[in-house]
Amino acid sequence: MIQALLVALASAAVVTAQTCALPSSYKWNSTAALATPKSGWASLKDFSHAPYNGQHLVYATYHDTGSNWGSLGFSTFSDWSQMGSATQTGMTSGSAVAPTLFLFAPKNIWILAHQWGPTTFSYRTSSNPTNPNGWSGDNELFSGKLSGGGVGAIDQTVIGDSSNMYLFFAGDNGSIYRASMPIGNFPGSFGSSFTTIMSGPTNDLFEAVQVYKLKGQTKWLMIVESQGANGRYFRSFTATSLGGSWTADKTSESAPFAGKANSGATWTNDISHGDLIRDNADQNMEIDPCNLQLLYQGRSPSSGGDYNLLPYRPGVLTLTNPGAASGGTGTTTTSKITTTTSKTSSTTSAPGGGSTGCTSPLYGQCGGSTWTGCTSCAAGSTCTYSNDYYSQCL
Ligand SMILES: *[C@@H]1O[C@H](CO)[C@@H](O)[C@H](O)[C@H]1NC(C)=O
Ligand SMILES: *[C@@H]1O[C@H](CO)[C@@H](O)[C@H](O)[C@H]1NC(C)=O
Repeated sequence: MIQALLVALASAAVVTAQTCALPSSYKWNSTAALATPKSGWASLKDFSHAPYNGQHLVYATYHDTGSNWGSLGFSTFSDWSQMGSATQTGMTSGSAVAPTLFLFAPKNIWILAHQWGPTTFSYRTSSNPTNPNGWSGDNELFSGKLSGGGVGAIDQTVIGDSSNMYLFFAGDNGSIYRASMPIGNFPGSFGSSFTTIMSGPTNDLFEAVQVYKLKGQTKWLMIVESQGANGRYFRSFTATSLGGSWTADKTSESAPFAGKANSGATWTNDISHGDLIRDNADQNMEIDPCNLQLLYQGRSPSSGGDYNLLPYRPGVLTLTNPGAASGGTGTTTTSKITTTTSKTSSTTSAPGGGSTGCTSPLYGQCGGSTWTGCTSCAAGSTCTYSNDYYSQCL
């Protein structure tokens, strides 16, 4: 019989709870196109990404080689270089075009929001988001309408703070819109009313709005896809609250958030509809400006013709010039548990992983086998086991 000895070692380690400013000008590098559509499909578009058990989980829109839009889920993969061999599974019970994927942590339920369902925006729920055909039926997310013709309300995104959930969307008409509800009412409908939060030229505030919280900061980043002279590009804005007003960050095609001018991509001029990469799947939509990556759709510059059939493919940009880093103050004591058996000796992280000496907020993650963040919870909440990969401050 193997005898196990548990030895706890205390060691001092520098906590790298570092935060980075947004750079004053963004410079990226790019992968090549990462995947081709499966047989019968012309394009892969509108990517939404969430981390899942240490892997990448991606949902997307496709257009077939005929006249139909649909949606798909990729099988999970651990490295972007594997996206091309991930299985593309079409969603069979109605499509979920322009999906938004996240974990609603207060109820530990996965949400897939989308356009062109039975209401203006709809959502589905699941406890296993890796099954593209395991989602619930459609529920109403938003029933408001944009008047005046055009494409109507499109490209929703959903994000929460500690007290509210917010819906942001576009309309291909130069405006960005917002609705909100108390977080306790979610999942549910935002109803029909909304506020126009930004307006400008149609091409400047076109579509594909995404909103994120900057890790370790009371600051949010919005990106909006614009139509430029040299292809699609993203403008960016910041705010100090989700219900507040937005300040221009990078809003020109020649010095954009991400576009032909700074992407480093050679296979595409367009840097179009996608998602910044999060390391936490929850509704806070938190990104780390020290490690910024954008999953985007691009296409061959020589392609053209019918917009619906343009051969969009996924690619990933990596920010190569993060802004100044700060924080990571001081040292703290972390413990590691060394497991020794009579046959082998191995070192593992503490059960549930994570680091002590810092505090996760209410609804934040506080444990899980791949978790490297804080394991203490804000006053008034308790770290609660959900599954081997996820414990949460509740
Ligand atoms: C976009 O559509 C909305 C709703 O019809 C309208 O209020 C707004 O003025 C339009 N914006 C532009 C820039 O056309
Ligand atoms: C992009 O830059 C990052 C960070 O500087 C680097 O680690 C990575 O290897 C680069 N990737 C490509 C595709 O050049």
